Amino acid sequence: MAKCRFFDNHTHGELMSRFTNDVDTISDSLNTSVLQLFISTITVTGIFILMLYISPLLTLVTLTVVVLMFLVARQIIKKSKLFFTGQQNALGAVNGYAEEMITGQKVVTVFCYEKSAAGDFEKLNYHLRDKATKAQLFSGIMMPVMQNLNTINFALTATVGGLLVIFRGLDLGGLAAFLQYTRQFGRPVNEISNQYNNLQESLAGAERIFQVMDQVAEIPDAPDAVGLTNVKGKVQFSDVSFGYEPGNDVLKKISFEVNQGQKIALVGSTGAGKSTIVNLLSRFYDINSGHIVIDGTDLAKIQRKSLRRSLAMVLQDTHLFTTTVMENIRYGRLDASDEEVIDACLLAGAHSFIQRLPKGYRTIVENDGNNLSQGQRQLLNIARATLARPAILILDEATSSIDTRTEQIIQKGLDQLMQGRTSFVIAHRLTTVHNADEILVMEHGEIIERGNHASLLKLKGRYSELYNGQFD
Ligand SMILES: Nc1ncnc2c1ncn2[C@@H]1O[C@H](COP(=O)(O)OP(=O)(O)OP(=O)(O)O)[C@@H](O)[C@H]1O
Ligand SMILES: [Mg+2]
Repeated sequence: MAKCRFFDNHTHGELMSRFTNDVDTISDSLNTSVLQLFISTITVTGIFILMLYISPLLTLVTLTVVVLMFLVARQIIKKSKLFFTGQQNALGAVNGYAEEMITGQKVVTVFCYEKSAAGDFEKLNYHLRDKATKAQLFSGIMMPVMQNLNTINFALTATVGGLLVIFRGLDLGGLAAFLQYTRQFGRPVNEISNQYNNLQESLAGAERIFQVMDQVAEIPDAPDAVGLTNVKGKVQFSDVSFGYEPGNDVLKKISFEVNQGQKIALVGSTGAGKSTIVNLLSRFYDINSGHIVIDGTDLAKIQRKSLRRSLAMVLQDTHLFTTTVMENIRYGRLDASDEEVIDACLLAGAHSFIQRLPKGYRTIVENDGNNLSQGQRQLLNIARATLARPAILILDEATSSIDTRTEQIIQKGLDQLMQGRTSFVIAHRLTTVHNADEILVMEHGEIIERGNHASLLKLKGRYSELYNGQFD
């Protein structure tokens, strides 16, 4: 599964739980269990040698019981491992749900969903309690069972030892010492099975973490992958088909070509596949068939890092980090100086509103930009892309949440930014794309019309319908 798909299929809270709860259980058991296992193993070995020295026959008796103990322990551990995995999964689900409801807190409140949310949470919580109780119960019976077996061991050894003293002349002192060892032998054996049981809990956690670790790496670049340098920005799609899920193609045999420095617009109804095209261009997902070629090199043969360095995106949903406005914009190009950041903001039309913020460029953006308006967040993202000075620029509904007057101001900045750059512009407001070199009209994953504004209007097809519809 590619990286993005993995993130699509797991809630943030569930993933966070892996990085907090599961890592915690591992670190706990590494701190205690592993050390204890080490100590116990040494003790057992030492005692075993002494027992063997006193009486091999009695040692055999003890050993038989110990093997029995291990067999029983194994059964218990098998079961408790199952419940521990269940417990960690249930914990992840609870976290995932909580995270979702907290981020969506406004929606929950507005639609009076509190009761249902609390109910659902209760169900998940109950499930967690159930699994955790079982896991604890099973690992809890380990200790008493082992102690009982140990007592049986002691009795058995004492009996056999007594008989040996009477009939085989084993000296009493030797038996006394042996029995002492038997007691001491039982403790570390107990300890080992106990710690082993604890390790199961952390193994259950480790498995969940390894699942993530196995996923995080994107399919590595092909060994013969090349780095893009001096990107010109010629992009070709030929017969590209793609579906997020197998058997459900979202894009069907898409072909088009964009020359260096051209502005291409993607328009069409919601869900037509416009964002999917730019997702593929950034290689967030790999295509099912066809070819995407940049500057004559197949996308699959380009090192991802160098590909992404030559692209910049401003997306429908913005993302800001909890740091200053200045640093947020600097994400576009990490080595940019403060002056360059400010220049980018001037170009993007973000400078004036940033200056009006309480601490200007030093204002801290809180919680994904909750202290900024949607449009302001969008402006910061545009400034970030401006700073990146990419060869290929992708604007996915970049100006959709900005008022029309500000949009006109930004449009000037954007037009300047797009000068000499290949740009993909996705917009529902068609007035922002009428000057594109080529407009692709998409419907259900296919390009149904293409051409420039004038020719498409003349066609009197879908585009003119959409365009004229805006003024009705
Ligand atoms: N991560 C995803 N996993 C599965 N299916 C997806 C995913 N993202 C989008 N889709 C599906 O792919 C189709 C195309 O989505 P896409 O985001 O490309 O539409 P769009 O043209 O950008 O729409 P909009 O104008 O609303 O942004 C939709 O039917 C959607 O259900
Ligand atoms: Mg979209």
